[in-house]
Amino acid sequence: MKTPKRIEPLIEDGLVDEVLRPLMSGKEAAVYVVRCGKELRCAKVYKEANKRSFRQASEYQEGRKVRNSRQARAMAKGSKFGRKETEDAWQNAEVAALFRLAGAGVRVPKPYDFLEGVLLMEMIADEDGDAAPRLNDVVLDPDQAREYHAFLIQQIVLMLCAGLVHGDLSEFNVLLAPSGPVIIDLPQAVDAAGNNHAFTMLERDVGNMASYFGRFAPELKATRYAKEMWAFFEAGTLSPTTVLTGLFDDPEETADVGGVLREIEAARRDEERRQAARAADEEPANKMAEEPPPPWMQ
Ligand SMILES: Nc1ncnc2c1ncn2[C@@H]1O[C@H](COP(=O)(O)OP(=O)(O)O)[C@@H](O)[C@H]1O
Ligand SMILES: [Mg+2]
Repeated sequence: MKTPKRIEPLIEDGLVDEVLRPLMSGKEAAVYVVRCGKELRCAKVYKEANKRSFRQASEYQEGRKVRNSRQARAMAKGSKFGRKETEDAWQNAEVAALFRLAGAGVRVPKPYDFLEGVLLMEMIADEDGDAAPRLNDVVLDPDQAREYHAFLIQQIVLMLCAGLVHGDLSEFNVLLAPSGPVIIDLPQAVDAAGNNHAFTMLERDVGNMASYFGRFAPELKATRYAKEMWAFFEAGTLSPTTVLTGLFDDPEETADVGGVLREIEAARRDEERRQAARAADEEPANKMAEEPPPPWMQ
């Protein structure tokens, strides 16, 4: 096919020999299959900021390190220089995340190069050498669903151990290779320790996995891995070998609920007594019988 303009610099630099076909034009980027020597790779061309959607929102940016204070000020002000810096930081964030995660043993596409807003990476292929399907494109039997879910929970733990939360993990951003699931699409990855929204995003990522795999193995919908792994993370004890159960008992929450229920019940009984007393004053024959307290109050 005709080389898209944005990929020309990679051809000129000899990084890419030929653009074969467009793969997918998503919300934030257009992805092409390219040939580099004998290998097929993917080139991800980021859309400009004004053509992108939600993920550049400030909640994702919190805790990200910028190089110097001039840059930080410009980014905060949204000046032209600032917008360019924000843009670069965003695009680089995916490259940085891919390198960091690959180093931590997370199954992500191997990044090769990043040039003028184009990321060149490993193409995740199916058995025939075509681009692998997304989870959303496949139907699983319950055992496969359980196995892939467990694998992805482990991958999320590895990401958290490397200090990152994906932030947009769903059945659209996991490819299914013959060797198993591969996580993609990381420009919005958030800093687990430095971003106040990190837990909310982790819970959403984990919840998306539970509801997707729960379509095939419904018991997965009831698992509570996010709270469990976050408790270890906050205590500084999460490691790649931490054993998780998917059950999370929140003792304080349970005790609180009990406390609130007891308060409500006590208030209700007080009110009943007052009404009974009033009724007794007015109509002595209509006195209320004393109820025994419910078992959980005794
Ligand atoms: N490394 C890759 N190998 C194979 N297919 C890929 C790869 N990266 C992206 N794709 C395909 O391109 C689509 C869009 O890429 P993605 O990184 O998710 O960008 P977007 O931000 O547009 O969602 C993916 O859903 C997937 O189908
Ligand atoms: Mg995507």
